[in-house]
Amino acid sequence: MYQQFVKEMSSGQGDFKFNVVFVLGGPGAGKGTQCEKITQLQGPGFVHLSAGELLRAERQKPGSEYGDIIETHIQNGSIVPVEITCALLKRAMETSGKQNFLIDGFPRNENNLFGWEKEMKHVAFVKFVLFFNCSEEVCVNRCLNRGQTSGRSDDNLESLKKRIQTYYNATMPIIEHYKKQGLVREINAERDVEEVFADVKKLFLEV
Ligand code: ADP
Ligand code: C5P
Ligand code: MG
Repeated sequence: MYQQFVKEMSSGQGDFKFNVVFVLGGPGAGKGTQCEKITQLQGPGFVHLSAGELLRAERQKPGSEYGDIIETHIQNGSIVPVEITCALLKRAMETSGKQNFLIDGFPRNENNLFGWEKEMKHVAFVKFVLFFNCSEEVCVNRCLNRGQTSGRSDDNLESLKKRIQTYYNATMPIIEHYKKQGLVREINAERDVEEVFADVKKLFLEV
């Protein structure tokens, strides 16, 4: 089975140009931390693309026409229109020259999902959705802790309250949508990094 997985991952699934694993979970659930570890696994080799990181980088670009709109959404914990986010993801995928992607923090709401389907449905095969389940309390504490060094304009209590609301109101329905399709692989993300990763690894290195 692992051989089959590696074969699929290295050749692209069917007619699809890209293979994708979406990575979802609340703010601070550990998406970025675990994705970095997955990229170091032996095997098919995944490129980690964080939608949030791509948006933050775009915002920093001198003269970016989207800088202000992105910053407003980030501080409000709301979701940037998909035309911007999907274009950033698509460009990163195409310029990487690679086939396998961990897309972290996307799709975060219905607009993200519809925009992705319109633009990417026929080029990217969604293998599964990795869902890091973590309580609000643990998520908030981790983000506040990260905020001491991250320099992020949204790792503060005010933005976090809004981010958590967005997560429950807009992102959970997307996770439910994929659950109905049998695509969600749920992981208890409240444990320490290595314990979480031990379960994550099994999903990528099944024998
Ligand atoms: P996300 O990308 O989901 O917002 P991060 O991976 O950036 O989350 O993690 C948020 C913060 O929590 C970081 O400071 C990270 O070092 C820390 N962290 C991540 N996973 C764990 C864990 N399993 N236990 C404790 N702290 C963690
Ligand atoms: O995933 P991350 O915590 O880095 O996301 C930070 C912020 O970036 C989100 O709260 C949101 O404002 C924005 N974002 C977005 N659309 C996404 C992912 C992130 O608007 N798909
Ligand atoms: Mg992150």
